[in-house]
Amino acid sequence: MTDTADNAALSPQSGKPPLRIALAGLGTVGAGVIRLVEANADLIARRAGRPIKVSAVSARDRGKDRGVDLSPYAWEDDMTAMAARDDVDVVVELVGGSDGPALVLARNAIRHGKALVTANKAMIAHHGMALAKEAEAQGVAMRFEAAVAGGIPVIKGLREGAAANRVERLYGILNGTCNYILSTMEDTGRDFAEVLSEAQAKGYAEADPTFDIEGIDAAHKLSILSAIAFGAKIDFGSVDTQGISRILAADIAQADSLGYCIRLIGTAEADAGPDGTPGLFQRVAPHLVPFDNLLAHVDGPTNAVVVEGNFSGRLLFQGAGAGDGPTASAVVADLIDIARGMDTGFEADMAFSIPVDGLEDMAPAPAGHRLGRAYIRFLVADRPGVLAEITAAMRDAGVSIESLIQKGQASKDGAVIVAIVTHEVPEAAVAKALTLLEGSPSLVGQPLVMQILGA
Ligand code: NAP
Ligand code: HSE
Repeated sequence: MTDTADNAALSPQSGKPPLRIALAGLGTVGAGVIRLVEANADLIARRAGRPIKVSAVSARDRGKDRGVDLSPYAWEDDMTAMAARDDVDVVVELVGGSDGPALVLARNAIRHGKALVTANKAMIAHHGMALAKEAEAQGVAMRFEAAVAGGIPVIKGLREGAAANRVERLYGILNGTCNYILSTMEDTGRDFAEVLSEAQAKGYAEADPTFDIEGIDAAHKLSILSAIAFGAKIDFGSVDTQGISRILAADIAQADSLGYCIRLIGTAEADAGPDGTPGLFQRVAPHLVPFDNLLAHVDGPTNAVVVEGNFSGRLLFQGAGAGDGPTASAVVADLIDIARGMDTGFEADMAFSIPVDGLEDMAPAPAGHRLGRAYIRFLVADRPGVLAEITAAMRDAGVSIESLIQKGQASKDGAVIVAIVTHEVPEAAVAKALTLLEGSPSLVGQPLVMQILGA
């Protein structure tokens, strides 16, 4: 398995050969991994029981300055060829995209008997089950700690630390870009587009930032966590997904005056549904978070995940959710795990904690019966009778109003904001009220509904 040069590099502690990796993708995360394995090489070797050695690297543009010296490593123009190299034990995929070259590389790696480490939540959310099954068949490890919540070891926490628990609910902030945008807008009153550009410049956003701001990236991550937490097959298609692009500065101000901040929250919960059918509820949506909730204090690109286990109680995982250093830390943690377990074969069927064939097909749980308080924001024509029309629809749908605010001057197009906070009601009642108002000439555009995060 090792060549002469590698034998010369046998770990002085363990006498084991290095773990040899091929790195595909040298952007924010890939360059971060190079920096980390170089900076902490001795420490990593001691902890892994063997050195971690980069054999080959690949990206699109060989000439690009990445702030790291790539001359010690072999360069592959065709990254998919890295899977076939004899001097590689683990392929590290840091390219991105659910399909395309990343998926080809991942499949090739496993077929060639290489372990796979990836930060690619889109690929795992769409193809994780098939890839894990193939990895099990090949007896190779597949790891993706960096795919969820950047540097936070939440997958490891669920798969190992909380493994004895039945998870009842899991929720939290899973997208650093959205959290950066919302908390910065809140703190500075700055404009959405300007703050998004800043998040992109800092390396937090996806190649296509729509994935961040429309909640898709958080939904990818939630579906992966759900699989591990609930022992279910990944069901990304069933995540009810709403992003933050419709949130106005006025919503942030209204929320603030009511004692809330706005955060994009992912929630997964085993839910029996109205007729008792067991199912899994999964949602990513902006929520109003009370100032006294711990998630209200999670700012910038930080992520936080709360896991409620039936014996552990509430566990909180918090840390940097995006960026080169934290994400590289999670990638290299996976490599250390593989380096430690390579001789035992133990790693191969651990990707989702349970082998793929043992994961359940959990039916998606509906939302209509779920009880909660909601914030509903209307843009309305500033004329008599509009409030009466809205409150009548609420009455007819059985929605009890806790507070109603109409503030400020009409904008250029004559619209004003009306914000309602409801008492606890089934979500279906709020939906019915909005259906009753559909097509009303009093409304300007679609109302925005955000649930208020409960305890
Ligand atoms: P990035 O900065 O855009 O880097 C992507 C890298 O992949 C670049 O080096 C690019 O090459 C290379 N690449 C793209 N398409 C390619 C192709 N067709 N063939 C060969 N190479 C190709 O992305 P990133 O932020 O590092 O993210 C990488 C992965 O980590 C993604 O799956 C992302 O979702 C995930 N992730 C990112 C973060 C974060 O904070 N950024 C956190 C967690 C997970 P060139 O440089 O030559 O263009
Ligand atoms: N774009 C992602 C985010 C990167 O902002 O959270 C980390 O997965």
